[in-house]
Amino acid sequence: MTDALVVSGLTKTYPARRGGMPVAAAKQIGFRLPKGGSLGLVGESGCGKTTLARMIVGLAVPDAGTVTIDGRDRQWRPRGRKARLARAREAQMVFQDPYGSLDRRLTVENALRDVLRRHQPHLTPAAVGERIQALLDRVGLGGSTAESRPHQLSGGQRQRVAIAKALAVDPTVLVLDEAVSALDVSVQAQILALLNEIRRESGVSLVFVSHDLAVVAEVTDQILVMHEGESVEHGSTGDVLCSPRHPYTELLMSSAPGPDWQPERVSELRAVFAATRPQSAGQRSSVS
Ligand SMILES: Nc1ncnc2c1ncn2[C@@H]1O[C@H](COP(=O)(O)OP(=O)(O)OP(=O)(O)O)[C@@H](O)[C@H]1O
Ligand SMILES: [Mg+2]
Repeated sequence: MTDALVVSGLTKTYPARRGGMPVAAAKQIGFRLPKGGSLGLVGESGCGKTTLARMIVGLAVPDAGTVTIDGRDRQWRPRGRKARLARAREAQMVFQDPYGSLDRRLTVENALRDVLRRHQPHLTPAAVGERIQALLDRVGLGGSTAESRPHQLSGGQRQRVAIAKALAVDPTVLVLDEAVSALDVSVQAQILALLNEIRRESGVSLVFVSHDLAVVAEVTDQILVMHEGESVEHGSTGDVLCSPRHPYTELLMSSAPGPDWQPERVSELRAVFAATRPQSAGQRSSVS
């Protein structure tokens, strides 16, 4: 079966800012994601996660490499409305702060109607109404939420609306960039459960960007660890978290304070990691 998403050799360097050096934010990144699969993109702040996510959905143009969705190479600069809409149906993105992507003047219902009219103009008003209800049900938004505007919703509800808007176009790939990071732990857990359910039911493939390995473990079956624009480890979620091969992954795991967190182990790992660089990527052949 064709993979839903194939990323190959994606590379991007930002030009030097005043007095600085150019920043290599992504270096030859590659992975494959089957239909309904889910990949976690992890790494510390500034390692290039958002840059890679933006290239996957087409919000940033790479210097080199390709993104193929459902067997079609993605066009970096689609010409015309039809091509742009078709491209939007391939991949959608949900951001950390849904305020930025939600129109403050529109009720939830009208925001969804807007997307459906643009992407499925053939639907009758009754069919649009049914689809809106199905989307609200799918993301667990009931009651009067449909008539609410973004400022009347909680952070978790806003993120559900952002997910519903993204799902309204039936995307092949859904990219979530720190989409649950700003939510408190119990709401986070609800959204993660929701994402797993959506993945099972709709077969959408997820790219889940986070700096939080515990969160990533909940919703992914593979993990790609980035460090300074490079893929330093890539494997199944279980393998990477249970037996990390690369010192940087271990460092990342030990840096997150938890019940068995040992600060002295972090310093040890930092030393090991510093001593092993530069080192080639610890790619696991099973998933790459
Ligand atoms: N538009 C830009 N112009 C120049 N440099 C940029 C631009 N966007 C990002 N960078 C730089 O590229 C590197 C990677 O940034 P990116 O936002 O992809 O990292 P990230 O892993 O998403 O970080 P965070 O976890 O903080 O969101 C950083 O050094 C950043 O400063
Ligand atoms: Mg980011």
